Amino acid sequence: MIRLGVLCSGHGSNLQAILDAIADRRLDAEVALVLANKDAYALARADARGVATKLLRHGAYATREDYDRALVGALREARVDLVVLAGFMRIVTDVLLSAFPDRVVNLHPALLPSFPGTDGLGQALCYGATITGCTVHLVDAGVDTGPILAQTAVAIREDETHESLAARVHAEEHALLVRVLSWFAAGKVAIERRAGARPIVRVPGERRSFLAAEG
Ligand code: GRF
Repeated sequence: MIRLGVLCSGHGSNLQAILDAIADRRLDAEVALVLANKDAYALARADARGVATKLLRHGAYATREDYDRALVGALREARVDLVVLAGFMRIVTDVLLSAFPDRVVNLHPALLPSFPGTDGLGQALCYGATITGCTVHLVDAGVDTGPILAQTAVAIREDETHESLAARVHAEEHALLVRVLSWFAAGKVAIERRAGARPIVRVPGERRSFLAAEG
């Protein structure tokens, strides 16, 4: 069974989606550790399910690398196989990435490579985009630039607000993240590397693009 380390900074609704999917046996995994960089509601969600938690305040470390060394130590101690950045508002360094090669996953509230960085939802609205969505991707050295695992497109309505869009995109994120984690749990994710080209994800037999129902 795959052991997950889930890193959070906030509300933790994606962590909740993972915990619910495991409890309902839709995901064959175990959350070995929930880590936060600040007081995050996600920690209370983990406590409520009896999942181990650790609060590592980033302010206590001189450099990003020092902080990531502490993260790696805690994740290794918990014997984590796959690291999930679920609303973790920190840029991670090669210290974490080299400790878990091709095993750090992030989710982003936009259809990458559009609208990377902070407030992907707000960026899409400001731009007047008519379609946005969410992306689950592997983390590389850039910000939201790693190989795409799966995406769900969400139509933006004429009267859309940040709040209404966030509600629909978050619901899609929850489903997409659990789906992708189930692929890792089943050992289905392969990374294709060719000289001079970006690494590409292959998940044989699985569909990786989705459209949210318009309602
Ligand atoms: C999600 O929108 C995710 O895409 C972004 O941070 C948010 C986390 O939400 N990276 P939650 O803490 O899981 O509720």
